[in-house]
Amino acid sequence: MAKLALNGGEPVVKGSLGKRWPIFDETEENALLETLRSGAWNRREKVDEVGEKFAAFQDAKYGIPLANGTVALQCALKAAGVSAGDEVIVPALTFVATGTSAVCVNAVPIIVDIDPLTYNIAPDAIEKAITSRTRAIIPVHNGGYPADMDTIMEIADRHNLKVIEDCAHAHGSQWHGRGLGSIGDLGAFSFQMGKTLTCGEGGMVLTNDEALAEKAGQFAQLNMRMTNFQATLLLSQLERFEEQIKTRERNIAYLSKGMEAIDGVHPIPRDARVTRWCFYYWDFRFVSEEFGGISRDRFLEALRAEGVPCGVGAHGEPIYNEGPFGNPELFDRLGLPRKYLGEQAIDYSTLNCPNAEQVYREEVCSFTHAMFLGGTDDMQCILDAFQKIRTYVDELQ
Ligand SMILES: Cc1ncc(COP(=O)(O)O)c(C=O)c1O
Repeated sequence: MAKLALNGGEPVVKGSLGKRWPIFDETEENALLETLRSGAWNRREKVDEVGEKFAAFQDAKYGIPLANGTVALQCALKAAGVSAGDEVIVPALTFVATGTSAVCVNAVPIIVDIDPLTYNIAPDAIEKAITSRTRAIIPVHNGGYPADMDTIMEIADRHNLKVIEDCAHAHGSQWHGRGLGSIGDLGAFSFQMGKTLTCGEGGMVLTNDEALAEKAGQFAQLNMRMTNFQATLLLSQLERFEEQIKTRERNIAYLSKGMEAIDGVHPIPRDARVTRWCFYYWDFRFVSEEFGGISRDRFLEALRAEGVPCGVGAHGEPIYNEGPFGNPELFDRLGLPRKYLGEQAIDYSTLNCPNAEQVYREEVCSFTHAMFLGGTDDMQCILDAFQKIRTYVDELQ
């Protein structure tokens, strides 16, 4: 008789894991009603308040609330002085908006490989990609795990480059005790629906530099701004955030400890400089040779059949295969500025970053943050499912 659910056996999880996202109650309803009834739909009070509160939460002096995270990246690039033809170094493994934001300010994204252990932009790949045209680096804190900000800031200082942290996944995460988004010159956040702090759509630029804040504020006035409704919702969600972080931390500690006893599934090794690790997606590494030789995709299929939803990262393919980068015809159809690529014209679709390819196609497995908002019994279910698939892996050959 088959044991694995994929082959008709009894699944480990009968119901669902974690909590349904987003989480809200009458607090959000009342706050939104209050804004509605005030008639002050385009006033700035709540927007200014959330800018101040979230900036303080991430240890930054200034917060500029915006319509969404893509606009936040563009606003940060503009404030940093990135302009037509400038090169901006971005990682291959991220959401495509990290790269397209540079294109939208007529800059040239230079897509580089990731570190195979942390899945974040590799500092040595940054160093190799720097030319006389480079103006900025956009490290993405992938999934919420901090990129190596010490090395990145050191490289940027040496080459006089601006650093814009893409913090779309990293609300609450800290490096050396400092909130992400407050370490580079600017940080860009997204509050899109799936994010750990959300108002459906929304974004924010953070900085500690008064001049950059002023510039970002001026660009925001080109109506990139967040609305009072978004800010109202975000303020309520911010009140819940610390508690949610604590619940996820408790669960992740339980899961990581339990995974030590199971071959072939490994959490990202935590750097001591990561003083708080909040995550949008929690990535772990699948090692086929330690797991009976089955592929990562076969493992995921079996895991989902056991009732444990699991995907492959917060991103899609490496971004040179995504959206306009993977489709030169679309690039032109969208009117994107190929002319600025000039002699440097890059056919993005021919790029290949070996670490990003290996990680994306064979290794990375990811749970969404909402899976970690229940009790530790949920974590035990995940461990039981891992162990069960490992024990009966021969059924999958
Ligand atoms: C890494 C990264 N950067 C930027 C963005 C863009 O944010 P938004 O969807 O709010 O425009 C996202 C969205 O998921 C993202 O994952």
